[in-house]
Parts: sequence; C-alpha cells; structure tokens
Amino acid sequence: MTHKKLITGVRDTSFGENCLVADSVNIYEATFGNDCFIGPWVEVQARVVIGSRVRLQSHSLICEGMTIGDDTFIGHGVMTANSKYPKVGLKDWECLPPKIGSGVSIGSNATILPGVNIGDNSVIGAGCVVSKDVPKNSVVVSSSRMRFLEEQ
Ligand SMILES: CC(C)(COP(=O)(O)OP(=O)(O)OC[C@H]1O[C@@H](n2cnc3c(N)ncnc32)[C@H](O)[C@@H]1OP(=O)(O)O)[C@@H](O)C(=O)NCCC(=O)NCCS
Repeated sequence: MTHKKLITGVRDTSFGENCLVADSVNIYEATFGNDCFIGPWVEVQARVVIGSRVRLQSHSLICEGMTIGDDTFIGHGVMTANSKYPKVGLKDWECLPPKIGSGVSIGSNATILPGVNIGDNSVIGAGCVVSKDVPKNSVVVSSSRMRFLEEQ
C-alpha cells in the first residue's frame, strides 16, 4: 500500500508587517494585512483577503474567496462554508464565500454558511450556525436569537 503526501504549510501568500503565524497551519494563495495572528491548525484557502489586526484562533477554517475586515476576532474552531450543496466530483460548483466585516467577534465553534454577510462590530455567539446576513452592531446569541448592540 502506498499513498501520495500532500505538503501543507504556507504557500503563495502575502503578509503585511508584524504577523505571527503558528507552525502547524495550512495557508495558500491568501493575503493578510499587518499585525495578524494565525494560531495552530488554522486553514486559510485561496483568494482569501484579510485586513489588519485580525486574530484567527486555533482550528479555524477560512474558506476560499472570503474577505475579513480589520480588527476582527475569529474564535477557536470557527468553520466557514462556501458551497451550498457540496458533492464529490462537482466541477462547476458555485463558490459563495461568506464576508465578515471589521471589528467583528465570532465565538468558538460557530459555523458561517455560504454567502452570509456579517456586518461591522457584530458579535456571533459560541456555537451559532449563521444562515442569514447579520446587520452591523448586532449580537447573534444563538442560531435563532439576534439583538442589536446599544449605540456606542
Ligand atoms: C453570545 C454572547 C456574546 C452573549 O453574551 P450576553 O449578551 O452576555 O448573554 P448572556 O450570557 O446574558 O445570555 C443571555 C441568554 O442567551 C443564552 N446564551 C448566551 N450565549 C449563548 C450561545 N452562544 N448559544 C446559546 N445560548 C446562549 C444564555 O443561556 C441566556 O439564556 P436565557 O435568557 O434563557 O437565560 C456570549 O454568550 C457568547 O457566546 N460569546 C462568545 C464566547 C466565545 O466563544 N469566546 C471566544 C473564545 S474565549
């Protein structure tokens, strides 16, 4: 029995100044601003564009084509998805990457579904499945409860 090995690591990616990247990551064809932190076992896929001062905690997945603004916190184990009906062998699948704004905080183990936009300064609770757009300044407490932050 033999198998081919897929080499992981960091490939064809540009970083701004002062980024810190853990040694067990899989990042390819992405762009980062300044002062970002990328924790261990994070995957960032092709055509992702991430702003400055973004923190990707361990075990998170940022899927192909996503954009993330500045000053955004992605918690441990956050999953994102860009294919609504994934199927092995599909060639012409529609890539619907989520979009995450600036100043957003996403709690541990949340899942952001294809095409969802998360507005600036919003908070997504731990474990939420986010299936609809989130207006700016919102708190999504659980998958079925959303409220607005007080004006600051
Ligand atoms: C969503 C969140 C911001 C809400 O905080 P809050 O506004 O202070 O809300 P409270 O703790 O007062 O909880 C309000 C209600 O929502 C429930 N609730 C809070 N967070 C929840 C969540 N993530 N999922 C489901 N229910 C939740 C509480 O049980 C409570 O229910 P009740 O009204 O029936 O008693 C917070 O709970 C959260 O999940 N933060 C993210 C934490 C995290 O993952 N950090 C990253 C790594 S440390």
